[in-house]
Amino acid sequence: MGKGGGAKSTTLAHLLRYWKKMGIPAVAHDADDSDKKESGSLLAWTEMLPAHGDGLGSPVYRAPAPPSLKTEADRLRPAHGLSVIDTKAWDRSKESLQYAAIRAADLLVLALYPSGMEKFRGASIIGAMDDVETMSGHRPKLVCLLTRFNPTASAADDVRKELMDEELHVLDAAIPASESKTGYAQSFGTTPKLKWESDMHKLAKELLREVAP
Ligand SMILES: Nc1ncnc2c1ncn2[C@@H]1O[C@H](COP(=O)(O)OP(=O)(O)O)[C@@H](O)[C@H]1O
Ligand SMILES: [Mg+2]
Repeated sequence: MGKGGGAKSTTLAHLLRYWKKMGIPAVAHDADDSDKKESGSLLAWTEMLPAHGDGLGSPVYRAPAPPSLKTEADRLRPAHGLSVIDTKAWDRSKESLQYAAIRAADLLVLALYPSGMEKFRGASIIGAMDDVETMSGHRPKLVCLLTRFNPTASAADDVRKELMDEELHVLDAAIPASESKTGYAQSFGTTPKLKWESDMHKLAKELLREVAP
């Protein structure tokens, strides 16, 4: 969950490879139905990978229409594994797949790209979670993930503190902006490179702790 460009798909593509390496079975549902090439969706990413390889390590499915999302996500979840939904840019409309994703999820990861607007968006997502809880009694656990932050500036620390002041849970692991030739910004459509104990590996492990019963 989070706005467009918040590094959701890129982060998830990398996480899938880490979980694969860690022996955690996973499937991903691409719920970004905007134009594939423009949106840099997870499905578009997998289609760019060599046909003879194992892609992102786990299958990526096109998410079904919103009313079927929860059923499909549950049906395709591997035993002792993860069923992960990659959403498109946040918009708060009750018919949208955003609501379906909140209904389907046990854990909702709000990707926050530190900027002044994010507090507002967070409030909108919490409002949607309240709506879902009223309608269905289901409320996923919410965690915030700082992404694409400037590692040399204090903006990420400031946002982290603001979120924690609002009693939101912010993951310890965070993904800095990396714009180099081998960085996340250039990784679309390539096989993610793994680096043990990197920020991404720490995030992969922390998320597993968050979903553990
Ligand atoms: N950690 C990062 N550092 C720098 N750029 C990134 C990072 N993660 C993603 N990007 C770039 O930001 C843009 C949006 O990323 P994307 O994963 O498509 O976001 P979303 O799925 O949230 O819309 C892409 O151009 C991508 O290459
Ligand atoms: Mg995306």
